[in-house]
Amino acid sequence: MKRSAARNAAKILTLEDARKRAERILPRVLFDFVDGGAGDEITLRENRRVYDDVSFRNRVAAVPLEVDLSAKVLGAELSLPVILAPVGPIRLVYPDGDRATMRAAGAAGTAAILSTAAGTPLDDVIAATTGPAWFQLYFRGGRAGAEEMVESAQRAGYGALFVTLDVVGGTMQTERIRHQVDKLARLRGETGLDSAIPLGLNVRNAVVFAPELVRHLRWTMGYVGDGVPTKFASADPKYLEEPAKGSKPAYNSVTWADMDWIREVWKGPLVAKGVLTGEDARRAVDHGVDGILVSNHGGRYLDGVTSTLKALPEVRSAVGDSIQVLVDGGIRRGSDVVKAIALGADAAVIGRAYAYGLAAAGEAGVKRVIEIFRREMTWAMKSLGRVSLAEIDETAIDASKLFPARSHTD
Ligand SMILES: Cc1cc2nc3c(=O)[nH]c(=O)nc-3n(C[C@H](O)[C@H](O)[C@H](O)COP(=O)(O)O)c2cc1C
Repeated sequence: MKRSAARNAAKILTLEDARKRAERILPRVLFDFVDGGAGDEITLRENRRVYDDVSFRNRVAAVPLEVDLSAKVLGAELSLPVILAPVGPIRLVYPDGDRATMRAAGAAGTAAILSTAAGTPLDDVIAATTGPAWFQLYFRGGRAGAEEMVESAQRAGYGALFVTLDVVGGTMQTERIRHQVDKLARLRGETGLDSAIPLGLNVRNAVVFAPELVRHLRWTMGYVGDGVPTKFASADPKYLEEPAKGSKPAYNSVTWADMDWIREVWKGPLVAKGVLTGEDARRAVDHGVDGILVSNHGGRYLDGVTSTLKALPEVRSAVGDSIQVLVDGGIRRGSDVVKAIALGADAAVIGRAYAYGLAAAGEAGVKRVIEIFRREMTWAMKSLGRVSLAEIDETAIDASKLFPARSHTD
């Protein structure tokens, strides 16, 4: 398995290679779940497309011999400003995926953020790395559930807490998988609009998905070999599982009062994930956060919200230099990271990009993806004549197409 994973990783030269491999390997419903977005996928496409609207202002005859990509983010020294996002079902993507991801991040000198919806206990995941490990909190099970998760994360040694603020309900609106989800829902006798995502492998799911499981035998064998993980593992299941019909929803959306409470309970760096406007950014600062992750959940919740790169300068100018600002969504190239830094980010966070690598070649695939980012960033920095991230500012780019009202000459 290890040797073939290394061979598969070596075949990945760009993120698009990794995505194509993931598409071949994963059962359709799982690939679509990872790859897809909400509604008509307008925000999903925009997240990616806006990077094309930013061009570089390169410098000639000024190529530095070495470039330094290191960054200090939320108190951690990273070898490059590319952090792995919380992706809940990562253990479905590849056997032991939560630990593989954390290990790959540590080996590459960067951080990974473990999701509340992870399939592996917090202690086991952090034990897989000597690098920085961070935790993402969903407010499942209200304050009681949140308190248990925050305390476990603190006890286990997670160095920063990301509170996801942009979800309003439990079911993700990834419409590409509706046809399959609906088939299951009808089998369960549910005909409403709120059918849940079929995470688990049970008899009913197996029947519906049998042709897909056979067509993707390598994935199926891996999943079975991993013990058929179907459960969330970050806290007591009573907080995490979908509640019985008719009872209160498991996801409570977080309020600013909850943020104040989390600020009291959590001692380390606290980050608001999902902020897209200057007003909310200032508000988050008023409630004591140490960082903001400009995010629209990879275009998976409210289709039609702004792309993250477009929101970034507004958020940065609202908070000034008082806190760190990270950005995620659509980042698929090292050059994208450089553009994001030029527009005010301290670091970039990648979700699908590493999930594709993981699907294609496990831990080696995630490492490969990070190394592609490192290589492409180095190339861009050299061409821009910039030695360190501190030297990247708006003069490195022309963003006048994205922001017609402002340009580098303003
Ligand atoms: C399959 C999938 C699962 C995700 N699960 C979570 C999650 O559990 N918690 C969370 O805060 N964000 C989750 N996200 C959002 C990511 O953390 C991140 O915001 C997003 O993937 C960034 O966009 P990108 O995939 O284009 O890089 C998920 C994203 C994907 C694609």
